[in-house]
Amino acid sequence: MSPDRPAPSHVIAHLSDPHLRADGLFAGRIDSAARLRECLERVAASGERIDAVVVSGDLTATAAPAAYELLRGILEPAAQRLGAALVVVAGNHDERRPLARALTGADSDAPLDTVTTIRGLRILGLDSCRPGYHSGGLSDEQYDWLSGQLATPAEHGTLLVMHHPPLAYRSTLMQLLDFDDPGRLADVVRGSDVRAILGGHLHAPTFGALDGIPVFVAAGVSYVDDAAAPRRALLAVDGPQSWNLVDVHADQITCTVAPARAHPTWSALSQEVLDLLAEVAGEDRRELFSRKRG
Ligand SMILES: [Fe+2]
Ligand SMILES: [Fe+2]
Repeated sequence: MSPDRPAPSHVIAHLSDPHLRADGLFAGRIDSAARLRECLERVAASGERIDAVVVSGDLTATAAPAAYELLRGILEPAAQRLGAALVVVAGNHDERRPLARALTGADSDAPLDTVTTIRGLRILGLDSCRPGYHSGGLSDEQYDWLSGQLATPAEHGTLLVMHHPPLAYRSTLMQLLDFDDPGRLADVVRGSDVRAILGGHLHAPTFGALDGIPVFVAAGVSYVDDAAAPRRALLAVDGPQSWNLVDVHADQITCTVAPARAHPTWSALSQEVLDLLAEVAGEDRRELFSRKRG
């Protein structure tokens, strides 16, 4: 790979599952508002030029109106400070009407499906929730809407955001709450400009593909699933919370899992190496840093 590889055309901060409560601790132990604020501080501390903050559902714990107001009060100023667009979708712990009231002012229980285009990159937010259920799916009307949107390609392609990822997660309990028809979704996106699908719901950084399209799942910023627990268990962990830094390049999209909380750090390089690297450029820089010594 060239040392002069161009920077990504777009950078997305993908967060998921804040499970906000305005009236106390989530599960009696997690200050989910503090967790979300801390994660957004980590996003800002990355120094990246973030184009969009994406939050893929389970925005609140119980869909209380006050929790949506709290969500808006945290997310909107944070996105504004970053100069980033804000894309949120509903999760199974959300309810459409209070979400719409808080975020758009609409008194509606229609699915909140959105289109956000940033310098030629299209982000389609899909409400993958089935009213009255924790499992996921899209209605006939939503599939038609998605087909209509995808009929016209975007310059840099399209990212789909949906709470329920179209993947088979290893937990047999979470499989009861999964997306109901990955095959139908694959039929709709096949041949389109969809380049990646961003999801949540699993509370574990999980990666797979739908008909060759990468699916990137962000873990919860509130709590994490103990992903290596026995398949029939469902155990929550207060850590390691993370967010996904999604780099969009012309020829590929990469997803890097980043800590959502601050941890002690140290420089992996000595000052001597840092000083040397500061003095050289181009291919010499690669030779200097890559070649083994001793
Ligand atoms: Fe969740
Ligand atoms: Fe969920």
